[in-house]
Amino acid sequence: MDRTLVICKPDAVERGLAGQIVARLEAKGLKLVAAELRTIDADTAGAHYGEHKGKPFYDSLVSFITRSPALLLVVEGPGDTYKVVRTLMGATNPKEAAPGTIRGDLAIEMTENLVHGSDSQESAAREIALFFPRL
Ligand code: RTP
Ligand code: MG
Repeated sequence: MDRTLVICKPDAVERGLAGQIVARLEAKGLKLVAAELRTIDADTAGAHYGEHKGKPFYDSLVSFITRSPALLLVVEGPGDTYKVVRTLMGATNPKEAAPGTIRGDLAIEMTENLVHGSDSQESAAREIALFFPRL
């Protein structure tokens, strides 16, 4: 089976949408392997979003992802799981995300786009090890 990391970001928990996001993942046929409500610390956020270091939005991205608890998930599917999750999430900019997707239906601001999903098989392995080292 094939696993990926999903984060229901602080805005999702604050707005009471984490359950709905989990429900969409489960309804699609993905299985929960790990779940933890955790306030991400600055070091972990920096490691997680290392690819964006130096970009103009980096500092606000780290502030956002660390501001309140996030729901960290590992989900499992029969293959291409990261792609399945990215399709359910919709485009990074919710203004452009298709209806039927999480971001398309439930978000409007780029900075508050509710959900993270690993963007490759390699990212999935790295991010699962970062957030759930004992898995
Ligand atoms: P994520 O990593 O959070 O799942 O989102 P993503 O793959 O769809 O997008 P990514 O390119 O990895 O960007 C990470 C987050 O940074 C914010 N962002 N702002 N102002 C901008 O141009 C800009 N670009 C990205 C978004 O909040 C995005 O989710
Ligand atoms: Mg990304």
